[in-house]
Amino acid sequence: MLRVILISLAVTIANAYIWPSPQLDALEALRFNQDGHNQGGIAVFIEPCDRFVLDTGSNVDSTSGRSNVADWVRTAYHDMATHNVTDGTGGLDASIRFPQESLRTENVGNGFNNTVEALGSVINRYVSLADSLALGTIIAIENCGGPEIAFRGGRIDAGKPNNPGGFTQTEMIGLVACGHTFGGVQQAPFPDIVPILNDPNNTESVTHFDSTSVNFDNLIATEYISGTTQNPLVAGSNDTTNSDKRIFGSDRNVTMKSFSDSPELFASTCADLIARMLDTVPTGVELTEIITPLPVKPSSLILSMDGDTLKLSGEVRFWNMTADPQRTVFMLLDDHLGDTNNVTLIASGVSSAVGGRYTAAWYSFAPVPTAPGPAPVLSLNATTGITNMRFVVDGKVEDQDGLGFAVLDGVVFSETSCYTSLDPPFTWRFDVAVRNGLNVTRVYLEELGVTDSVGRIIVPEVDIVPPVQPVAVNANYSIWSINVTGTDSYSIGFELDGGKFSTNNPHSVFDLSPCTVQGE
Ligand code: HEM
Ligand SMILES: *[C@@H]1O[C@H](CO)[C@@H](O)[C@H](O)[C@H]1NC(C)=O
Ligand SMILES: *[C@@H]1O[C@H](CO)[C@@H](O)[C@H](O)[C@H]1NC(C)=O
Ligand SMILES: *[C@@H]1O[C@H](CO)[C@@H](O)[C@H](O)[C@H]1NC(C)=O
Ligand SMILES: *[C@@H]1O[C@H](CO)[C@@H](O)[C@H](O)[C@H]1NC(C)=O
Ligand SMILES: *[C@@H]1O[C@H](CO)[C@@H](O)[C@H](O)[C@H]1NC(C)=O
Ligand SMILES: *[C@@H]1O[C@H](CO)[C@@H](O)[C@H](O)[C@H]1NC(C)=O
Ligand SMILES: *[C@@H]1O[C@H](CO)[C@@H](O)[C@H](O)[C@H]1NC(C)=O
Ligand SMILES: *[C@@H]1O[C@H](CO)[C@@H](O)[C@H](O)[C@H]1NC(C)=O
Ligand SMILES: *[C@@H]1O[C@H](CO)[C@@H](O)[C@H](O)[C@H]1NC(C)=O
Ligand SMILES: *[C@@H]1O[C@H](CO)[C@@H](O)[C@H](O)[C@H]1NC(C)=O
Ligand SMILES: *[C@@H]1O[C@H](CO)[C@@H](O)[C@H](O)[C@H]1NC(C)=O
Repeated sequence: MLRVILISLAVTIANAYIWPSPQLDALEALRFNQDGHNQGGIAVFIEPCDRFVLDTGSNVDSTSGRSNVADWVRTAYHDMATHNVTDGTGGLDASIRFPQESLRTENVGNGFNNTVEALGSVINRYVSLADSLALGTIIAIENCGGPEIAFRGGRIDAGKPNNPGGFTQTEMIGLVACGHTFGGVQQAPFPDIVPILNDPNNTESVTHFDSTSVNFDNLIATEYISGTTQNPLVAGSNDTTNSDKRIFGSDRNVTMKSFSDSPELFASTCADLIARMLDTVPTGVELTEIITPLPVKPSSLILSMDGDTLKLSGEVRFWNMTADPQRTVFMLLDDHLGDTNNVTLIASGVSSAVGGRYTAAWYSFAPVPTAPGPAPVLSLNATTGITNMRFVVDGKVEDQDGLGFAVLDGVVFSETSCYTSLDPPFTWRFDVAVRNGLNVTRVYLEELGVTDSVGRIIVPEVDIVPPVQPVAVNANYSIWSINVTGTDSYSIGFELDGGKFSTNNPHSVFDLSPCTVQGE
């Protein structure tokens, strides 16, 4: 019925998602930790759904008639619309961030820049701006009355603007209706289409597509079919600009009638079309499997070495669980000698996702301090170390179907690290504790928060020269050390048995003690 030309994805082999998997872990967190404890920073921009935040901070204004949800959905569409079906270029790749694209006539208005600024605030080394644009659209629709939408990650941000692209209008009835359930037409960029409203509750004079402009619902269709629509792209006096009228009527209203008759059909059709729109990416970009929430997910793990003590902090999230003071949660830590440490975990918060449809309960590995201070830690014996975690919830073992949750303690931050100057350029000594007897072939520092010339996150690496004479930190670890100047924070990367790993924990010079004259 709906013949929407969107590229069909190559069949992807579904890899089971097993923790740890840094990219999937990061995408899953941004996708499913939306509100409450450890919220990922996207949903706050669209709560409530009529929230409009120009330039991300100041200027919170719900009387403008505009909304972030509408800006975000429109931005994802326009970014994707450069896809060229013939040569496979363009697609959802964040090329809209380039002025060459955002200043084109089809991209009039500041909604694109506004979206890039808000959704650009949550990107990291594993989540591109294009992935964030996709997530923004999904979270907007899910939080404002719409269906749950399948999300894949792995989009790559373009390095340059795309050529203008082409999707034909008549094949897009469904998609246009799905998008135009939000928002409307602004007066300033479109003075020939919509009038000045002189409405204190709609200061930017946005004539909305339907009477519920920040709710995902099928009123875009019911009002159209009943002939009561105020949609300025249908009911405008000049038919040249009545693009929705042309598109919606192009199959003699068959599709719009079906949407008008069934909110469920509208929602399920949109869930499919929006996912396919967001998954339209340039040839060569390989998307992940559909990301579903991990039932049990360790989070924010930090290991560090303090003399004979291996310190561990972190939390674990249990999906589809509400708070319950009667529940018991234990963490079983397997060590290098085959023994097990049994730790009682402490409830630390509750989060929710998909417009409140799901709840998750979080537990901390150590008591969370009531006052600000150092992160709570478990102190483990460095000799015995840690290899694996398992959890026991009300007597039920959670161990990823017998695999356990693997923890690498081979290369960890050493608290012997120290500074010689806290004034720029910072000068400090970064010490890394490396477990003896492992095949660690390379240890390096990762510089965080660095972008290339077109704003994409990159992670420069600074090699640590292996020590000529191993310096023992305790019976089972030796120190690899490097003097650094300038940068104030690094995480640690290493190569072990041919695999490349990152601790992905920033360690800041401001958390260190001064170096003693002896240097140790
Ligand atoms: C050829 C098809 C389309 C045409 C001609 C079209 C046209 C327009 C126009 C003229 C506006 C007003 C923009 C403004 O005031 O800044 C608009 C807004 C919007 N469009 Fe479309 N559109 C099309 C397809 C889509 C699709 C496929 C989606 C998403 C799935 C979408 C989502 C939106 C949204 C959410 C807004 C509201 C923006 C806001 O209120 O800030 N549009 N569209
Ligand atoms: C969007 O931002 C770019 C710079 O990043 C700027 O050149 C352009 O004028 C902005 N567009 C609008 C409509 O504000
Ligand atoms: C799409 O790509 C083909 C092949 O490179 C090119 O001939 C065509 O002009 C492109 N279409 C658009 C709309 O740019
Ligand atoms: C603006 O909104 C407020 C709150 O919803 C309402 O009380 C007021 O009547 C509205 N003003 C106009 C002019 O519609
Ligand atoms: C209708 O809109 C088109 C495109 O904006 C414009 O060229 C034309 O002059 C308009 N016609 C009238 C009668 O305003
Ligand atoms: C589609 O529906 C609209 C609104 O009821 C009506 O004005 C229009 O004539 C219909 N178009 C066709 C082709 O039936
Ligand atoms: C969520 O948990 C409830 C009760 O614990 C259970 O009945 C339900 O099937 C679970 N839902 C999912 C999607 O796992
Ligand atoms: C862990 O300790 C709790 C009590 O602190 C005990 O009830 C539980 O059986 C222990 N679990 C294992 C696997 O040792
Ligand atoms: C750590 O464990 C080892 C091996 O079981 C033991 O010999 C050592 O005494 C322990 N160290 C401390 C500080 O408890
Ligand atoms: C710790 O190091 C000692 C030698 O210093 C070694 O005998 C022992 O096997 C190591 N223990 C573990 C658990 O790796
Ligand atoms: C770091 O600097 C100190 C003081 O200049 C020096 O003694 C030490 O050898 C340096 N360490 C490395 C790994 O270069
Ligand atoms: C250590 O790992 C590297 C990279 O996989 C490999 O080439 C080398 O043979 C390994 N060395 C040992 C002693 O296993």
